[in-house]
This record gives sequence, structure tokens and C-alpha cells, in this order.
Amino acid sequence: WILMVTARSPTNIAVIKYWGKRDETLILPINDSISVTLDPDHLCTTTTVAVSPAFDSDRMWLNGKEISLSGGRYQSCLREIRRRAGDVEDEKKGIRIRKVDWERLRVHIASYNNFPTAAGLASSAAGFACLAFALAKLMNIKEENGELSSIARQGSGSACRSLYGGFVKWVMGNDASGHDSIAVQLANESHWDDLVIIIAAVSSQQKETSSTAGMRESFDTSTLLHYRSKVVVPRRILQMEEAIRNRDFQSFARLTCADSNQFHAVCLDTSPPIFYMNDTSRRIINCVERWNQFEGTPQVAYTYDAGPNAVLIACNRAAASLLLKRLLFYFPPSPDTELTSYLLGDKSI
Ligand code: DP6
Repeated sequence: WILMVTARSPTNIAVIKYWGKRDETLILPINDSISVTLDPDHLCTTTTVAVSPAFDSDRMWLNGKEISLSGGRYQSCLREIRRRAGDVEDEKKGIRIRKVDWERLRVHIASYNNFPTAAGLASSAAGFACLAFALAKLMNIKEENGELSSIARQGSGSACRSLYGGFVKWVMGNDASGHDSIAVQLANESHWDDLVIIIAAVSSQQKETSSTAGMRESFDTSTLLHYRSKVVVPRRILQMEEAIRNRDFQSFARLTCADSNQFHAVCLDTSPPIFYMNDTSRRIINCVERWNQFEGTPQVAYTYDAGPNAVLIACNRAAASLLLKRLLFYFPPSPDTELTSYLLGDKSI
């Protein structure tokens, strides 16, 4: 027999960034972060997990290619999931798995991203959230007190935020065990559904410095990082929560752009400096800044993760459709700029 579960999980984009860990194994951050979860129809990971007595080892395929599960992060997730597994019964198939059986049963995992892996589009976030969710369904794990987000977190920090839709806060927590470092939903997806997200895929190349390595280097060498996590972020988190609560786009855009710029300033303050943005990324920032200035009130916010792709958040559909027209005029996809395409992260315009 074989038992299967398929799940789909969207990616999320941080508007107040996570950068720096206080515990590298458990993946515990040095500051809270806030993100917006994208619409699963556009940028998502789909994962099928299967269990069968015929399987003799845990195996995984990513976009059709087998990858190794020996890495610590996969092992942590699988261990944490198996520890919590419950009894499973499928009467129609005559299958009965007891809690203790999960220790010896092996799983096969097949995962697909519908967007470029490791190009700064938080593919690991959707990936580990989907893995944790699919395995939890397969093994009948009851979701209590954000436990699932704490398992996804041990795969990749930002993954814990992808288990919820809408606006999500990853509370850093204080405990050394990490049990209080979980994601909580601030507002669901219908709370502020005017917003439209457009992603300018500036490059689909694998990034040179992974987020994991980059934040370790920043933690060790950047003084700005420590000032940011202790002084700037706690204040910004409160302001961002208020902006989201009140659907105040002006404050939302100001905080989102400022936090992205500070994150990239921390990368520059790292020794040796890390450059995630390229010329095209910076030209897009200029274009948005000029447009917002011209309009008097911000129409669009921009944010960049550990890569050159621009994530642009427009205040409504009219602004989004104008934005797309302007982007296509000033930045037509071409090999010169490395800009390959525009992707819609949320709803169609
Ligand atoms: C810039 O979650 O990819 O996207 O926890 O080491 O796997 P690890 O890092 P990861 O870092 C994401 C960093 C970021 C900001 C964010 O998503 O908050």
C-alpha cells in the first residue's frame, strides 16, 4: 500500500526583515519580522509526500531532480515531525499506522516550485512550509500553539511565516528551546485586499551568497545589524502593525522601503560587503521613488530580499496597472538588464 498527501504553499515577502540568528541550529532570530503571504495561485511550492512499507529510505526530489536529505535542516524537520506523529487509519485501503510505526516507516517527497529556486524569491520559505504542512497531514499531527510553524522554522527561518495567509509576524521569542519563536497571523488575506504585488524577476541566477551565510557574516561583522535589531526593528514592528491594522498605505510604504534599504545597508556594512541588488534593482528603486514623489502620496512600495528581484506592492489595482505599464516601458525584459519577466504575486489586475 501507499498513502499520499499533496499540499500547496505560497511564498511570503518580508516587509520588516529577518536578518541574523541567535541560534543557528534551532534557527532563532535576533528580531521579530513581518511579512505578507502571496496568493498561492502565482508563486508557490507543491509537495507530495508518500509513505509505504516498500520504501527503504527517506528520499526527496526537487523539481524532478533527486536531492540529498542528509542536510541538518531536512533531518531536523523529519525528526520533529516523526516525534509528534499520531495514529493514522484509512479504512477503505485497510491501512492502520500506529504512532510508534512512524519511526521505521520511510517517506518519499516530491516538491515543485513554480518560480526560480534560490533567486531571492524565498523559495525555501514556501518549500519548508509546504513540507512541514504535508508531512503533518500525512502523519496526523494536530496543529497547536504554532507548533507547525516552529517545525517549518527549523527548515528555513522565513518558512514559518508561510503557514498563514495575509499578514504574518514571526515573534522572535526569548526561550533558548525556541518553543516561543513562532509565527502568528496579524490579519487574514481579505483584510487589505486592495494591495497588488508585482515581482520584477531581475535575475533567475542562483544568488552568490545564500541568506544563511550572509546573515552569519553580518552577525559577526556588522555593527549596524546589532543597532538595527535592538533599536530600529522593535519600533518599526509596532508602527508596521499599526499601519496594517489601519490599512494606512503611506506608513506601510514608508516602513517597507526603509526596512528594505536598511537591510541592504547592513549587507554593505558586512565585511566583506554583500551585494544582493544590481544596477537594474537600483534603477527600479529610483523610478518608484520619483513616481511616489510626483504623486505626493506613495502609490507603490518596494522591497528586496537576498537577491536583485524587486517586489513591488501597489496600493490598489489602478496603481498596479499603471505601474506595470511604466515598468514595461522603462524596463522591458531584456538580456542586457537581466530582467526576465514580471510576475504577479497577488490577484490579477
Ligand atoms: C532576506 O529564511 O532564507 O528573505 O533561516 O537561514 O534559511 P535561513 O534564512 P532565510 O532568510 C530570509 C531572509 C530575507 C528576509 C526575510 O524573509 O525576513
